[in-house]
Amino acid sequence: MRADLTILPATEDGQLAEIQELAHAIWREHYPGIISPEQIEYMLQAGYNLDALRRDLTQGQIRYDRALIDGTLVGFSAYGPHSDAGALMLHKLYVDAARRGRGCARKLVAAACDYARANAFDRVVLRVNKGNHIAIAAYERIGFTKRGPIVSDIGGGFCMDDYLMQLDL
Ligand SMILES: CC(C)(COP(=O)(O)OP(=O)(O)OC[C@H]1O[C@@H](n2cnc3c(N)ncnc32)[C@H](O)[C@@H]1OP(=O)(O)O)[C@@H](O)C(=O)NCCC(=O)NCCS
Repeated sequence: MRADLTILPATEDGQLAEIQELAHAIWREHYPGIISPEQIEYMLQAGYNLDALRRDLTQGQIRYDRALIDGTLVGFSAYGPHSDAGALMLHKLYVDAARRGRGCARKLVAAACDYARANAFDRVVLRVNKGNHIAIAAYERIGFTKRGPIVSDIGGGFCMDDYLMQLDL
């Protein structure tokens, strides 16, 4: 794991804007072939507009962590309480394509696990698209296991066809 990789929380609008920009780039690079271009734009608009990110921080009890190398944002995560008691939901985990395979995701997940332990959660859960094989492989390497399928209608004629994965702490 890189010694120069720092994990810091996002607390300011400017940091959320950087996260938004990185998320847009990653989604448009990574998700074609997994979901349709229309669904990519729909989900970016719903989950990554600046107001949605601000709402996550102020109302949703969702914490954003930034992965930084030499002050440059190279990845981020978002996590918060799940409706199932004891579970911390890892909502988002994204690493810049040029910085993958160097331990950024592992370190972001470790920070979320530290937060979970410090706040009396006993597991971390997440949803991942069934066709997102790279992410599933990375999550499994990190210690998550599949707990079953989970499909949700997200409006606009789209649905999320995912696996639920879990890491026991
Ligand atoms: C999934 C993702 C976050 C992984 O980020 P990363 O920084 O490359 O991951 P790391 O370098 O921390 O790797 C973590 C572990 O996963 C493994 N891994 C990473 N990429 C892998 C791949 N393509 N295939 C198999 N294993 C992989 C690593 O070997 C590592 O295990 P190890 O430490 O035992 O060797 C990154 O590929 C990404 O942003 N993908 C696009 C967005 C996405 O799908 N996000 C998940 C949404 S649910």
